[in-house]
Amino acid sequence: MDNSGWRIRRPARGCRLSGVRAADISEDLSHVLYTAEELSTRLAAIAADIDRDYAGKDLLLVGVLNGAIMVVSDLSRAMTKHCTMDWMAISSYGSGTKSSGVVRILKDLTTDITGKHVLIIEDIVDTGLTLSYLVHNLASREPASLQVMTMFRKPDAATTVVEVAYVGFDIPNEFVVGYGLDYAGRYRNLADVATLAPHIYS
Ligand code: IMP
Repeated sequence: MDNSGWRIRRPARGCRLSGVRAADISEDLSHVLYTAEELSTRLAAIAADIDRDYAGKDLLLVGVLNGAIMVVSDLSRAMTKHCTMDWMAISSYGSGTKSSGVVRILKDLTTDITGKHVLIIEDIVDTGLTLSYLVHNLASREPASLQVMTMFRKPDAATTVVEVAYVGFDIPNEFVVGYGLDYAGRYRNLADVATLAPHIYS
């Protein structure tokens, strides 16, 4: 089919909406780790790596709800290859900033992943407890391949045995919000990633 008459041109990789910016809620925040523009640039580079690594293969992105919604959304649109998506919801955190140590499936996949190339998309890996559980669970379903991409990784994650193929940023051991990451359900739609001001959780 001749698409030459189409008025929609391909935008630059990683083009995104601005949303709520750190400057809009600066009284709630301590400092900004990454701006929306920096997140977008990094994600575009990872998308290019994934495009290359999965060339010629059908790829299923498995987003871990709720935190990975922004990552899946932006990553998939920064990719130039067709992919499919599915979602899992897993609980490992309460409403505070400490891991509860309890992992359970709140929502399972709707797709049978047997024989498929699966890429788990995480927002953040902290202790690695959630990811470790997820990888073992999905591996038992016998996918053709199983890899992990996370937007952020904290230092403790390095001590877990789970291999992460694609990492957005290695960050310090601080509680961060924005770009899908929440504190008690808030700040997910902050476009930048920042630490919270102490008065928010004290
Ligand atoms: P892990 O099992 O300790 O690796 O924790 C992973 C989950 O904890 C993530 O998917 C997030 O939901 C949550 N989490 C860990 N660190 C943070 C953070 O700094 N901000 C927001 N959520 C976090």
